[in-house]
Amino acid sequence: MTSWDPGLYNRFKSYRDRPAIDLIVQIPSHRSFSRIVDLGCGTGEQAAVLCSRHPTAQVTGLDSSPQMLERAMARTVPVEWVLGDIAGYAPDPAPDLIFTNAALQWLPDHEHLLPRLVRMLPEGGVFACQMPLSHSEPWHVALRATAADGPWADRLMDARGLTPLLSAEAYYRLLAPLAEVDIWSTTYAHVLEGDDPIVDWMRGTGLRPYLDLLPEPEMREAFLAAYRERLKPHFPVEPDGVTLFSFPRLFILAQRL
Ligand SMILES: C[S@@+](CC[C@H](N)C(=O)[O-])C[C@H]1O[C@@H](n2cnc3c(N)ncnc32)[C@H](O)[C@@H]1O
Repeated sequence: MTSWDPGLYNRFKSYRDRPAIDLIVQIPSHRSFSRIVDLGCGTGEQAAVLCSRHPTAQVTGLDSSPQMLERAMARTVPVEWVLGDIAGYAPDPAPDLIFTNAALQWLPDHEHLLPRLVRMLPEGGVFACQMPLSHSEPWHVALRATAADGPWADRLMDARGLTPLLSAEAYYRLLAPLAEVDIWSTTYAHVLEGDDPIVDWMRGTGLRPYLDLLPEPEMREAFLAAYRERLKPHFPVEPDGVTLFSFPRLFILAQRL
C-alpha cells in the first residue's frame, strides 16, 4: 500500500483545499443528513467542515493510511475515524451523504465502483465527488515516461499510479439511471513558489507509489533528477519567479432517485 506523508501533502494545503470547498458548497447546506461519510478523508479537513455544516449528522472519515488518520484523529471534532479500504466499503446502515475528495482516482474499475457507491444511498441521498483530471497532464505523462526509462524501470513496472478517469459523459451514463447527476470540471491555475514546485507537489501525492519502490537515496535522487528534466519544458519559471501549474479537476454531484 502506498505510504502517505501528511506534512508533504499539506504543503500546498490552500490549493488542495480549494476544489474540496468548491464541491462542499454545492451540497445544499439546509439538507439534513443523518449519516455522512468522507471516503479517503486524509487528514480530516473536509470531514471537520462537513461536521460543522451538518451538526446533527453522524460523520465518519474513512482512510486506508494510518499516517493520515493519525493527523485526523488529533482534531477535536465529533467525527468517527475509521481505517479501511474504499474498495470494500459496505456500511450498514448506509450513509445519506457520501463525500469523497481527491481519493477515488487511486482506485480502479470506476465502471463498477461509482455506481456501487451511489446505489448504496437511500432515495434523496447525495454522492459528492472530486477527482483530479491529471492522468494525461504533462506532469503525470512525464512521471510515467521517467519510470519506464532508466535503471529503475523493472522495479517501477508495478507502481500503482493514478487510474485514468472516464469521460464526463461516461460517468453521466453510468450514474443517470440511479441519480440526478450534475458533472462539471474546473481548471485551477495554481501559482507555485519555490525552486522545484512541481516535484514538491508530486512528492505529496503522485510520486509516492514510485518513491516507495526506490528506498535507496542515490537511486531516488537520480530518478527525481530525470523527472525534473522531463518536466522543465512544460513548466517555465515566470519572470516574477513563480511557476504556473494548470490543474483540471472533475466534479460529480449525484442525488439518488
Ligand atoms: C490525495 S489524498 C486526499 C485526502 C483528502 N480527501 C483531501 O482532499 O485532503 C488521498 C487520500 O485517499 C486515501 N486513499 C487512497 N486509496 C484509498 C483506498 N483504497 N481506501 C481508502 N483510502 C484511500 C489516501 O490514504 C489519502 O489519504
